[in-house]
Amino acid sequence: MKEKDDMINILAKKRDGKSLSSQDIEYIIDGYMSNDIPDYQMSAFLMAAYIRGMNADESYNLTKAMVKYSEIMDLSGVDGIKVDKHSTGGVGDKVTLVLGPMMAAVGAKMAKISGRGLGFTGGTIDKLESIPGFNVNLDKDRFVRQVNDIGIAIIGQTEEICPTDKKIYALRDVTATVSSAPLIASSIMSKKIAGGADVIVLDVKVGSGAFMKTLDDAKGLATELISIGKRFGKRVVAVISNMDQPLGTTIGNSLEVEEAVDAMRGFGPADLLDLCFTLGSQLMVKAGLVSSTQEAIEKLSDALESGKVIEKFRQFVEAQEGDSRVIDNPRRILPHAKFVEDISIAEGGYIRRINAEELGVAARILGAGRKVKDDPIDHTAGIIIPHKVGDYINAGDTIAQMHCNDAHTLAAVSGLVYEAFQLSASPHDVPPIIYDIIE
Ligand code: URA
Repeated sequence: MKEKDDMINILAKKRDGKSLSSQDIEYIIDGYMSNDIPDYQMSAFLMAAYIRGMNADESYNLTKAMVKYSEIMDLSGVDGIKVDKHSTGGVGDKVTLVLGPMMAAVGAKMAKISGRGLGFTGGTIDKLESIPGFNVNLDKDRFVRQVNDIGIAIIGQTEEICPTDKKIYALRDVTATVSSAPLIASSIMSKKIAGGADVIVLDVKVGSGAFMKTLDDAKGLATELISIGKRFGKRVVAVISNMDQPLGTTIGNSLEVEEAVDAMRGFGPADLLDLCFTLGSQLMVKAGLVSSTQEAIEKLSDALESGKVIEKFRQFVEAQEGDSRVIDNPRRILPHAKFVEDISIAEGGYIRRINAEELGVAARILGAGRKVKDDPIDHTAGIIIPHKVGDYINAGDTIAQMHCNDAHTLAAVSGLVYEAFQLSASPHDVPPIIYDIIE
């Protein structure tokens, strides 16, 4: 039994770069959840862990201590193999909207709890809520029934799922301790373990629009995520993907839903579809639905081309009370911003760089995201980027189109959007969308 001021000794241990025992970590989390450990001591722990790092045992023990306070979704009533996907967060990341129906169309069961956007990154729940009527608050029985009936259900975080992560994340957000691999790994994996799926694919983003800015850091995070997942008996695979430029051509909630619908109709941007096929094929192999990624890709292509994927999306939207006319006529059904303004360039050239973080920040200021957790969100706001890195554009071409409900904000943000683009006179190599797959 530890004494109350043992927290000071634990903090000193981490400050000096020593590793913490499972009891130390449990003591911190128990104390924080019972409010015996105040925010200032928890902040000191987070900063020490951020700077000194944590080893694999510490990350696992932190996840375990966090999971102790969470309800674990009971998916035993779902027949078949339950799959889940998580992204470490990016700009224009509408993958779940496309991948979920894809997986359901090939016979997997996607029972997913998703989050909202924060800072420059977006969240699936905000995107789904831009579909008129869409309900992200299903009770457990309905959630399980829907997954059994149509193969997919997506709901928002509940009070019972990982309250520890909610409390710690809010503190990390205001103490500059978000972008730490062990803290991100325990945050993500505590939610994935609580989600109850058997097979998990992790989309670990790297680049200007991601928490991990270098390939080495992204690989380190992927390894931590996988190692924690395995110790909880999950089948986990990580895909390292490019987030140096936004994914696809839209940023912002209803704009992204429109793009996702186009993608499910077979007109999606190549980077979005490539990523969905890679994540989907990895899930199918790990779930034992196919024996090779090649076979998985053939099945996913058939499902997309035959219209099964978009039909699955229609069933999913209808089951969750959304207006399914969004599938046939997204431009009419989805809400639109009052003001739309094009930004063009004075001189032509090859697009060398599109800074995803800067565009994510610009989209947030336009109204598409939140600075702090309870900020309101404008589903219509966002940015369209018709061209991607490597494209040649002529003088006078539009490089970005801003959507916003406030003319003053639009004017204030245009400089930031313009600055996110870098052009060069000569062509150059275009980086791949997938960097690596780690098992
Ligand atoms: N996503 C999460 O769920 N947690 C983090 O800490 C970072 C990204």
